[in-house]
Amino acid sequence: MLQKIRGGKKREMPRSDVGVFGLGVMGESIALNIARNGYGVSVYNRTPEKTRKFISERGAARGIQGYYDLTEFIRSIARPRKIIIFVKAGSPVDEVISLLTSQLERGDVLIDCGNSHFRDSDRRYKILSPQGIHFLGIGVSGGEEGALKGPSMMAGGSAEGYSEMREILDKISAKYEGSPCVAYFGEGGAGHFVKIIHNGIEYSIMQSIAEAYQFLSLVYGLGTEAIGEIFDEFNRGELSSFLMEAASRVLLFKDEETGTPLVELILDEAEQKGTGLWTSQAAMELGVPAPSIEEAVIARLISTRRKIYSVTGLLNGKNYPTASEKEADIELVRDTLKLCFITSYIQGLDILHEGSSTLRYGFDVAEAARVWRAGCIIRSRIIHEIYLILRDRNPSASPVNEVLKHYSENIKTNISSTIKYIQLSLSNMIPVPVTCSILNYLYSITRKRLPANLIQALRDYFGAHTFRRIDKEGQFHSNWGRIISD
Ligand code: 6PG
Repeated sequence: MLQKIRGGKKREMPRSDVGVFGLGVMGESIALNIARNGYGVSVYNRTPEKTRKFISERGAARGIQGYYDLTEFIRSIARPRKIIIFVKAGSPVDEVISLLTSQLERGDVLIDCGNSHFRDSDRRYKILSPQGIHFLGIGVSGGEEGALKGPSMMAGGSAEGYSEMREILDKISAKYEGSPCVAYFGEGGAGHFVKIIHNGIEYSIMQSIAEAYQFLSLVYGLGTEAIGEIFDEFNRGELSSFLMEAASRVLLFKDEETGTPLVELILDEAEQKGTGLWTSQAAMELGVPAPSIEEAVIARLISTRRKIYSVTGLLNGKNYPTASEKEADIELVRDTLKLCFITSYIQGLDILHEGSSTLRYGFDVAEAARVWRAGCIIRSRIIHEIYLILRDRNPSASPVNEVLKHYSENIKTNISSTIKYIQLSLSNMIPVPVTCSILNYLYSITRKRLPANLIQALRDYFGAHTFRRIDKEGQFHSNWGRIISD
């Protein structure tokens, strides 16, 4: 761009490699990350004060250029322009896209890095492709720290746009043993599809950890700090993961003012921005059972809604703890959490596998496991193991079979712990919805026969919906001994 210098002459300023629109926490962090990796970055935010503040406090030191006029912002970026949008999912993304596209040219790349619904990204891709704008929907995981130091990135949309962005994405993303945790999953909303399923798994694992915290506290009377230490120990073994580590740190953290563990002072109402719900909806629409993810969403709903019921204490007259600290069976909890982690991944991968073919994204779920090994919220030792299991299989094979077979001996050994954990919880009126759903799911998918035959019979009885038989081919209907006359 041209800038006036002394004497009234104008000189050409080097253009930025990337533009970032939206300076929320994530936008700021990604801009800093890109700049730290040696690229020129222009930033723009609708509220100019935000831009000013960011540039003066953090951006200027990294050579980031702030703009207060949209046209100047766009002109400051080298062609083909690469613009990352980091705004709230939903209509704000559409608004920003229409603001920008009027000034963009064919070949420019527009990248939505928010938590958008994959159907929105499908739609945006379809609208922008004929205009020659390469639209990418990239799911970015890892929160503020991840965006700053290296997030896990799940891309979808224009393949050309992806090759334009490839070098930058490889550099700014998290690395697992040197390999970048970023992948292209296919056209349209493929990347955002993978990201929302990531979040569904995040919900399920988080809820299972919360249930374990409650179990250790209510059943054995362990204090918050003691549970934090136990989780820290878990994190050093098979359960090593970002969420286990985070839970341990959170439990060990004391409120400065009161000296009490801060977590104890937090209102027990869990909020949500919607990605868990979207995962559940997608699972249902695709016909894939993901009960643990659904239960995790429901658990959050119950936590916020129960205040309007005013039935607290109606059923639960128990005195806690129900056992002594000395009786605390830590192995029981460790085994149970392992089962919860594995099964949460299995359910998420199953949705991905089905979605990849039904929604015609055409990716291999092993790629999702690969990019989830570093940078993201659900990174763990187990997802790395799962990646190794999936990598070498035939990509069309169901991930459920492969992963479950791999862990079957382990599950058979550990399942008695989970049964005991659930027995102890339920008999003491402690809700463990995700843990229960995990066991029900595993029992159901591995049983030789389910009572679905009675469901079919009843459907046929009242609705003549027909049924199939195990002893002969075809579709059948019975009047079930009734004579229905008019
Ligand atoms: C991530 C997270 C993140 C998500 C938050 C909040 O991968 O970095 O998934 O994208 O927005 O965790 O989600 P909820 O408000 O729905 O809990």
